[in-house]
Amino acid sequence: MSWILDNSLNKFQQLVVNIMKSGPIPNHVGIIMDGNRRYAKKINAEKVVGHSRGFDKLSESLEWCKELGIKEVTVYAFSIENFKRTQKEVEELMNLATEKFEKLLDEEDKLMSEGICVRVIGDLTLLRKDLQQLIAKAVLLTKDNCKSFLNIAFAYTSREEMTSAVKSVLHGASHNHISLDDVTDALLAQCLYTYSNPDLLIRTSGEVRLSDFLLYQVSQSIIYFTDVLWPEFSFWNFVMCILRYQRSYFYLKNNKDTSISTYSNNMRIELFLSDLRQRRLDTLQKYATAEI
Ligand code: FPP
Ligand code: MG
Repeated sequence: MSWILDNSLNKFQQLVVNIMKSGPIPNHVGIIMDGNRRYAKKINAEKVVGHSRGFDKLSESLEWCKELGIKEVTVYAFSIENFKRTQKEVEELMNLATEKFEKLLDEEDKLMSEGICVRVIGDLTLLRKDLQQLIAKAVLLTKDNCKSFLNIAFAYTSREEMTSAVKSVLHGASHNHISLDDVTDALLAQCLYTYSNPDLLIRTSGEVRLSDFLLYQVSQSIIYFTDVLWPEFSFWNFVMCILRYQRSYFYLKNNKDTSISTYSNNMRIELFLSDLRQRRLDTLQKYATAEI
């Protein structure tokens, strides 16, 4: 299945989308896509079938987001904790990811014409070299696109992300690029892998926990838990999530704490952050051109 779908909504669904668009729409949605293996068990299939259907559901949901005008989506595709699963399942998931990132690169024309920026967030050092290379190519290819953003959390946990942010800050301080006074929650936020915080976070499958996903970023987000298993998540389930967001929106708007991620115009900090981003790009370039 393609990453980028078109026109899968019927006329009635399109009408519902248009009505919902008269209300507030989240700019950024996070999704914990949970329940793939339970779905596989339910249909008497191998686990990998559940994950593969999970990917198909991701494509579908990206189209719903596009139709609704949601500009940024961050999905939890593979946690660092998932490496503790059986070797067979980890390998199957890595093979599935390899196949899907190859497919993503094949869809270059569509990615570029639709202006989609793909970012992969996580500790890429933990991945196989061929997968590192595909990911780096996809991220570098689309890095200047700015119409919509797809962030795929892969080999990701929030604790690793925060640890990496702290290391970046320490690196800056030890090279005298920043001082202790420059270190604020806003600076730390800008050293994370993400660029904005989700307005709405959805978790499927009935688990009511965050499983180390975007912990720094969701302090102000509306969080919606649903019992539906991810591969069975339907357009109408998604409509319910958006309606819940719309109901909570005005409360959220009046109470939003804007102290996190406020933009800093301190030149020293700007230089430090641009150096950090350049080092991350250099790492991707290295992966993209590595001999395998
Ligand atoms: C959680 O369900 C799902 C995962 C660990 C994998 C999610 C991966 C995909 C949807 C494929 C996406 C691939 C790419 C390349 C973006 P689970 O395995 O925890 O199932 P369970 O909760 O029923 O045990
Ligand atoms: Mg699970």
